[in-house]
Amino acid sequence: MASFFLIFILLGTCGGVSGQFQLEPVNATVLQGSDAQINATVQGKWEVMTWYVGRLLVLTVNNSTGSISTSSEKFSANNNNKGESVEFTIHNVSRSDAGPVVCSILGHYGSKEALLIVQESGTVNIIGGNQTVVKDQQVEFQCVTTAWYPTAEVSWSRNGQAVNDSLYNTSSVAYGDWYNSTSVLNFQAVSNTTVECLANLPTLIHPQSSSVYLVVVPKPPDWTVLIAVVVSFGSFALLVLLIIGIIFYYKRRKEKESRIYQDELNKRVRTQSQISGAGAAGQRQGQINLAYVTEGQTTPSVITDSGFSQERSSHISETPEVVHSNQAGNEHNSAYKHDTGVRKHRHVTIV
Ligand SMILES: *[C@@H]1O[C@H](CO)[C@@H](O)[C@H](O)[C@H]1NC(C)=O
Ligand SMILES: *[C@@H]1O[C@H](CO)[C@@H](O)[C@H](O)[C@H]1NC(C)=O
Ligand SMILES: *[C@@H]1O[C@H](CO)[C@@H](O)[C@H](O)[C@H]1NC(C)=O
Ligand SMILES: *[C@@H]1O[C@H](CO)[C@@H](O)[C@H](O)[C@H]1NC(C)=O
Ligand SMILES: *[C@@H]1O[C@H](CO)[C@@H](O)[C@H](O)[C@H]1NC(C)=O
Ligand SMILES: *[C@@H]1O[C@H](CO)[C@@H](O)[C@H](O)[C@H]1NC(C)=O
Repeated sequence: MASFFLIFILLGTCGGVSGQFQLEPVNATVLQGSDAQINATVQGKWEVMTWYVGRLLVLTVNNSTGSISTSSEKFSANNNNKGESVEFTIHNVSRSDAGPVVCSILGHYGSKEALLIVQESGTVNIIGGNQTVVKDQQVEFQCVTTAWYPTAEVSWSRNGQAVNDSLYNTSSVAYGDWYNSTSVLNFQAVSNTTVECLANLPTLIHPQSSSVYLVVVPKPPDWTVLIAVVVSFGSFALLVLLIIGIIFYYKRRKEKESRIYQDELNKRVRTQSQISGAGAAGQRQGQINLAYVTEGQTTPSVITDSGFSQERSSHISETPEVVHSNQAGNEHNSAYKHDTGVRKHRHVTIV
């Protein structure tokens, strides 16, 4: 009977169920700024439990008295169900809290270790902001994530639709205790699009994001064609202008020539009338003769086999070239005098 009682005691204190405890979770991954919780589940009777964070004793639970002592308000614990489970909490976790979290229970329970992993979300930005491109142009967006731990998972969306990861490349680099990454997205611009870069971590409830707007404008006309058209039209117009100019110039010159010629004729007529002192009939006759002279270059004059008339005709044909100088005019005057002589002579022959 006594031995049976002894065996019962031994089972009660050293049995397979009692004298053990577990930590859950073994790896606690949390986001910086949030709270980390680790549960200790104990089988059996225990008196004192201690918690270490970063090799420092931060919290003590006395199961007999129910009292809990902490090194700071950052740590707290709940003792539930008369010591069957203790919920240990680290508030406002920072990266410096990361590492082993050790729980020890006084006596033969020993120690258990959990690992605290602290993630940190940084910033995300699409470099360059909004873009305006022409339709069908290849467009590139660059997204930069800064100060993340571990490296951010970068993805893209267009108008809220996830982008196929064959369209972007992401590379990351460690910078101090953080990771920075750069993601480059390439696609062909089709229509106005909201482009969003998303940076995520397993512990983030919502990924961080950065959005820009892609404005797609219609293709402008082909400039080479336009330039070719403008150039050809321009040169054609120039050519036409040039031709018109040349025609106008020659027309003007001809007019001038004929005017000068007319002047010459008029002058000659005056001179003739002055010198000969002929009456109206003579003048008229002279005019008639002069009319012959103008045609004289094309049709042979009525006055034919006179050496003088030949000479005169050659003088007349020369007139336009020697108009401008006074001296030339004088020469001509003398020629006219000569001429009048001819005329006189001719007059005589006609009569
Ligand atoms: C906890 O993390 C360590 C190292 O990060 C890993 O080796 C182990 O498998 C993890 N354990 C669990 C249960 O996730
Ligand atoms: C959390 O901790 C950081 C420093 O680690 C401190 O700056 C911040 O004010 C704390 N936040 C809260 C809500 O206590
Ligand atoms: C980008 O475009 C959107 C929509 O047009 C506008 O609200 C936003 O201010 C623009 N951002 C920048 C940086 O110009
Ligand atoms: C992504 O693109 C690749 C190649 O263009 C294609 O094989 C794959 O099916 C696409 N994935 C999705 C989810 O559309
Ligand atoms: C990503 O990088 C690979 C190799 O560097 C390259 O072949 C591919 O075209 C890149 N894709 C994009 C979308 O930039
Ligand atoms: C894109 O948006 C701009 C104004 O934001 C508009 O003028 C243009 O017509 C739009 N393009 C298309 C293809 O819808």
